[in-house]
Amino acid sequence: MARKCGLTCTATLMLLLITLKERIYCNGLTVNPPENLVITDPGHLGHLEIAWNPPHSLTNMTECSVRYELEYYNSYRDSWAGVRTDKRTFSAQFDLMKDVRVRVYTLLSGPCTNNTMIKSTDYTELIQKPANTGVLGTEALDFTCVFHNMEYTECEWRRSEKMPANSQHELYFWHKELGQAVKCPEYIRSGGVRRGCKFRDESLPLFTDINFCLNGTSDEGPLKPTFTSLQIQNHVKCAATEKLHLQTGPDKLELHWEHPDGKVPGHCLEYEVEHNQEGPGGKQSSVWVNGQTSLTLSSIDSSKRHCFRVRSKVHKYCATTSYWSEWSHPVCQPGKNKEVTPEPEWDGVPVYVYIAVAIIATLVLSLCTWAVKTTAQEKKVESLLTSLFAKSPLLGPTEV
Ligand SMILES: *[C@@H]1O[C@H](CO)[C@@H](O)[C@H](O)[C@H]1NC(C)=O
Ligand SMILES: *[C@@H]1O[C@H](CO)[C@@H](O)[C@H](O)[C@H]1NC(C)=O
Ligand SMILES: *[C@@H]1O[C@H](CO)[C@@H](O)[C@H](O)[C@H]1NC(C)=O
Repeated sequence: MARKCGLTCTATLMLLLITLKERIYCNGLTVNPPENLVITDPGHLGHLEIAWNPPHSLTNMTECSVRYELEYYNSYRDSWAGVRTDKRTFSAQFDLMKDVRVRVYTLLSGPCTNNTMIKSTDYTELIQKPANTGVLGTEALDFTCVFHNMEYTECEWRRSEKMPANSQHELYFWHKELGQAVKCPEYIRSGGVRRGCKFRDESLPLFTDINFCLNGTSDEGPLKPTFTSLQIQNHVKCAATEKLHLQTGPDKLELHWEHPDGKVPGHCLEYEVEHNQEGPGGKQSSVWVNGQTSLTLSSIDSSKRHCFRVRSKVHKYCATTSYWSEWSHPVCQPGKNKEVTPEPEWDGVPVYVYIAVAIIATLVLSLCTWAVKTTAQEKKVESLLTSLFAKSPLLGPTEV
């Protein structure tokens, strides 16, 4: 525990002086900052509990209400967050790979302060360094989670090159509905190593922080742990659109498509339609469509072939971030030219040739062996060969 008063104090003082309601020095009253500030880690992978006591001088305070102002450094957002509370505990999410910094002030108001609010000029501060465990450079890299079509979640990571060969990562996760951190239900493996974790169905709740920790052991010591906290509805990737219909009208094209199957609400989707004009001087353009599932294009250059494909994404009013789906298959107008049915001869000729050559080669070989043995019958062989070539219309005798 440490009490600090520096620049912040001066700044606070200046603020207080210009704030009518918070006149400390005008009436000469001061209050001490809270005491016994402690941070405990219940093993929730970054969700820490902060507790403190009122300053000793206020232990028996009855005529005034005592409240607290808590500031903590949000290392995910790189900024300070603040909250006022009349409780003596607070829990917040921290990145356990970085310093945990918490400050608490005392606030006093009521008859004892002539009904103005007093804030302690000092704060009680606690800085907790990250536990320096694990072999340097062994931490998992690029941890990402994708909530596929809001049906199941896959989280993946990369192994660092320094990670000892025989070691495996272990993934733990925690959210408010769980008493304690639990292990990954099903690892995704490739080449015998764990590369990801699959969460089936609705095993991860929406709109609540889910904390992940990747750690593990190795021959060289524990792997350096990594921590991530995210809300799963912000990591949706829709399925590709499958049903697209393209209709031609006079001088226009109408494209209709259906929402991708799955649990993503249709009103949460936006689409990108890619339009490709094929042919000489053809060009590509993209159109963003929000809310609708159709697009009409007028004044179409009918000398060109027009192809469209669609992809979808959860828009910003439903989730802070999301991934684009894969592109749908393209639909074109005019459709593909009738496929030229391959002439049977084109495919068949070589096969016949090979079969004929194989038969002739076998015959010739056996005939030759036989001919060598019985040189007296040379003439017969020759006549046999010539008659054979004469019977094979596909091969000219010159080819042998
Ligand atoms: C608070 O009150 C109790 C008795 O009511 C007394 O023993 C104690 O010393 C008081 N503490 C302070 C800080 O005044
Ligand atoms: C309390 O505040 C009132 C006006 O808000 C003022 O008239 C009075 O002098 C103050 N009393 C003290 C003790 O500061
Ligand atoms: C990994 O983290 C979990 C959850 O905090 C913990 O129970 C486990 O002991 C850790 N394993 C290693 C090897 O540090």
